[in-house]
Amino acid sequence: MDAHSLTRRAFLAGLAAAGLTACDTPQPAAVAPVHHQPGVLAPSPPAAGVAAYGVTARTRTELIAVLRTVTSRGVTVAVGASLFGDRFGLRAPRRLTTMPKFAGDVLEEQWCHGDLLLQALADTPAQVDLQLADVPGLTLRWRMNGHQLPEERNAFGFKEGAGNPATPQVWAGDDEPACYRGGTYQVVRLIKLAMPTWDHKSTEDQERVFGRRKESGEELPAMLDSHVRRARPAEEKHKILRRGYPFVTEPGQIFVCYQRDPETGFAAAQRRLAGEELEKYLLPFGGGYFFVLPGVDGSKDDYLGRAMVESS
Ligand code: HEM
Repeated sequence: MDAHSLTRRAFLAGLAAAGLTACDTPQPAAVAPVHHQPGVLAPSPPAAGVAAYGVTARTRTELIAVLRTVTSRGVTVAVGASLFGDRFGLRAPRRLTTMPKFAGDVLEEQWCHGDLLLQALADTPAQVDLQLADVPGLTLRWRMNGHQLPEERNAFGFKEGAGNPATPQVWAGDDEPACYRGGTYQVVRLIKLAMPTWDHKSTEDQERVFGRRKESGEELPAMLDSHVRRARPAEEKHKILRRGYPFVTEPGQIFVCYQRDPETGFAAAQRRLAGEELEKYLLPFGGGYFFVLPGVDGSKDDYLGRAMVESS
């Protein structure tokens, strides 16, 4: 059999037999082209929904059926730490842990974590509902719907996104198992906002809290203790890519961020923010740490998570 007649499965089986699987061998990019899921860099759409699930599928075959279904939905698919271990014998992304409790968090277990996270980004809430419709083999753990306010402002009235890196460096590095190359770590936080109290502050006081002008978004110089100055890392490589979706039902914010390492990205920023003035107006109660799987290669039978399943 020459190399061209090898199926991808046979190719992987051959690697596995030789002790070389996509999940534990560094592969040069030329051998394994890298694909990304489009929902990571996509700008914030009018409607969004994030939903975390428990996987009730028991076998790898059932898990593959779940992954094929969610791939066909066009949602962004991410895995949580609880999917790994003995359940399916899959090897986890190196830096995937369970979201810890940070200072000021009042976490409610039923709003935290999940084996799988689906994120729907769409034009209308009805499309979000379609994309997040029930999937056999998954049970819903929690779901939050978000929407876009005019001018991409959050519920506090400030513009979102100005401090995002122009060229996000969020994709998992070469030190991850090769089957995860092209993926990224996704942190989701569900945060209630103390609206009436916030609205009682003068615009000047609110601007001092964030370190930016409310109307223009322009940064205020010399506000070293502001949200933006505390949140900003010293090194460009630790910058996170943030997306914010105000809750549809009550004052709150779905905070989503992407990075190549959740510890030096989100967690480090969160610790720098501990004790900030903004903290008085925030109540983080849910969310989780997830890993967005690499994208599909465009061929008919590819599905999200295929390399993860086939190579472990
Ligand atoms: C509901 C809670 C939050 C609100 C309302 C909020 C709001 C804002 C606003 C208005 C800005 C300035 C505009 C922009 O750059 O997007 C900003 C910047 C930023 N925020 Fe937040 N934020 C929240 C939570 C967080 C959390 C939990 C983190 C990370 C742990 C974070 C990290 C950052 C970073 C890194 C920047 C950019 C700083 C820079 O300019 O370099 N934020 N946030």
